[in-house]
Amino acid sequence: MTAGAHLLRLAALLAVARGLQLDTAFVLSQPTHGLSAAGKAACLRGNIQVTASANNTKLALQSPAGQPDLTQTTVDMATAGVHYAALVGGGPTHVTGTFQLYAELCVPADPVAARKVQTLQFLNHGGTLDHTYWDFAPGYSYVDAAAAAGYATFNYDRLGYGLSDHPDPNQVVQAALQREMAHQMVGVLREATIGGFRIKNVVGVGHSAGSALIMAIVGKYPADLDALILTGISTSIEGIMVAQVAFNLIPAALDPSGRFNGLDKGYLTQGAVAQDFQFPFYRYPDFDPTIFRKQFDTRQTTVFGELLTFGGVIAPQPAYTGPVDVVLGQQDYIFCQANCSYPTNQAQTFVDALFPASQGKSTFLQANSGHLIAQHYTARDGFAHSLHFLKRNRL
Ligand SMILES: *[C@@H]1O[C@H](CO)[C@@H](O)[C@H](O)[C@H]1NC(C)=O
Ligand SMILES: *[C@@H]1O[C@H](CO)[C@@H](O)[C@H](O)[C@H]1NC(C)=O
Repeated sequence: MTAGAHLLRLAALLAVARGLQLDTAFVLSQPTHGLSAAGKAACLRGNIQVTASANNTKLALQSPAGQPDLTQTTVDMATAGVHYAALVGGGPTHVTGTFQLYAELCVPADPVAARKVQTLQFLNHGGTLDHTYWDFAPGYSYVDAAAAAGYATFNYDRLGYGLSDHPDPNQVVQAALQREMAHQMVGVLREATIGGFRIKNVVGVGHSAGSALIMAIVGKYPADLDALILTGISTSIEGIMVAQVAFNLIPAALDPSGRFNGLDKGYLTQGAVAQDFQFPFYRYPDFDPTIFRKQFDTRQTTVFGELLTFGGVIAPQPAYTGPVDVVLGQQDYIFCQANCSYPTNQAQTFVDALFPASQGKSTFLQANSGHLIAQHYTARDGFAHSLHFLKRNRL
């Protein structure tokens, strides 16, 4: 079954779930329906099959045999005079396959608001996280905030994350393939109809590596997304290597929790000490310790295949003219070395450098927040800013 047919069936199921008339959309196999964290959105959850092909990059990289091997790779990446991605990057290699992805489609729980939805937000999570980033807990849910403001959201685990398939982490789980899979899903969502009304706009919303992927989509398919909300990303790279060292990456299969038993050792996660998660992601004491603990305990994986190939798809997008909003936690370590005002506003620097032709640039530095802007006390300020940005642009 094609992704389109699956999506179609999903819409039909959602229609049943909400008592809405739906003409087109999606399908999830074995779907369940339920509510978002604070109940502002009604959601359908399940798996979709996506068939895609892409020209990935042949990487001279193997999964680590164990921790010493992985630690040495981190040293190699941080070695003076070495551009690691160029060192291991080879020519293009064609990949193709049908993969199962976990996805959630949510609409406002209020049926009157659900019938008026015109804009769907396509959400894309960051590394070592999954779809739960966007709907984490009451008060920490962008899915709730978006539904309360009248938006539908599509939230999924990228290939190699969470509940989705975990193929070869070096040669398959790469930026180019993720882009083609996302492009197909967006194509189907653009044709969706909820409550008898056609979805008019699709907005790309990313966090960190997810923002890189959203940029990769418009780099090749600028017409896919009517506006972009890019969070947790900048052009400042000085903090990235320090943050990677702080991650203290381990093969996830060796995590003492046992949650990742059996995964290929190329799937990596932060070390099992809470500080390995706090340093790069959180700003103390600006978060609820129970939220931190839950996030740490449910942390996911990342792969070098993806991280090393984002460089090839992220570039200035002089042709993209849609509105672009950039949101950073003021104390984001990874993308600002803990000061996003240094030497000037890094959100502004980023949007000006990469989207010179954007009509409607907007930026926000979320106070008292590290990299995970959706999990700090100030999360709702960032959500409110982004939703206001969409309203201002009539989306
Ligand atoms: C891969 O590269 C070939 C040759 O350049 C090209 O024809 C094809 O369209 C590319 N495929 C994708 C999915 O970009
Ligand atoms: C961040 O950098 C700005 C610009 O250089 C500086 O004025 C400010 O004091 C710095 N903030 C902190 C907390 O050091």
